[in-house]
Amino acid sequence: MGKKGKIKMIYVSPSILAADFGDLRNQIKIVEEGKADMLHIDVMDGHYVPNISFGPGQVKKLREDSKLFFDVHLMIDNPEKYVDAYIDAGADLITVHYEATNHIHRLVQYIKSCGIKAGVAINPGTPAIVYEELADMIDLALVMTVNPGFTAQKFIEGVVPKIKKVSAMLPEGTYLEVDGGIGPKNAAQVISAGANTLVAGASVFYAQDPAAAIAELHNTKI
Ligand code: DX5
Ligand code: ZN
Repeated sequence: MGKKGKIKMIYVSPSILAADFGDLRNQIKIVEEGKADMLHIDVMDGHYVPNISFGPGQVKKLREDSKLFFDVHLMIDNPEKYVDAYIDAGADLITVHYEATNHIHRLVQYIKSCGIKAGVAINPGTPAIVYEELADMIDLALVMTVNPGFTAQKFIEGVVPKIKKVSAMLPEGTYLEVDGGIGPKNAAQVISAGANTLVAGASVFYAQDPAAAIAELHNTKI
């Protein structure tokens, strides 16, 4: 393995789903000081996914102590019912699942009309073509590399060709985020496929030194 290689600008968004829930303020401080670009906040309702996580009241309290860009990933049914609450809580960007609402176009328009950024996520079983009608209006496309619900799941390598397809559809400057099982072992592979934003839960928060883990992802050579 040579040391040469291109380094592309990439963003790292640590997922607090993998953090110590009893010590969130400190854990967030560690990744904020560790040069995370965003904070990935996974919201789960026990219906859309088989797990329950952070409510808007909790996010609002975390907002008081952090200047990080809050990258809020709603894994909930009928997300249109809750986007206002998460905007009020301080989200900078809200990502909703294509599969979770009947009116994805309307919802993206609504989120943007509130003055924050909007993302659309797709599960491993949902095809890239979904972005054809959305690419020009979204700020972020989130391609799930696990089936959503839990941290520390195994990266699904079969999703990589889809990352390439989505990348080809997005205008310059759109975040292409990958989420699930991302770490130093597969960062180069997903970045080469076109991802520019890496969600990292276990690979950052389970690390001895989260700041070093973030730096390693930032320095991925492709
Ligand atoms: C999965 C969540 C992810 C998850 C990532 O349902 O959307 O954001 O927390 O955690 P890791 O990186 O550990 O797979
Ligand atoms: Zn997520």
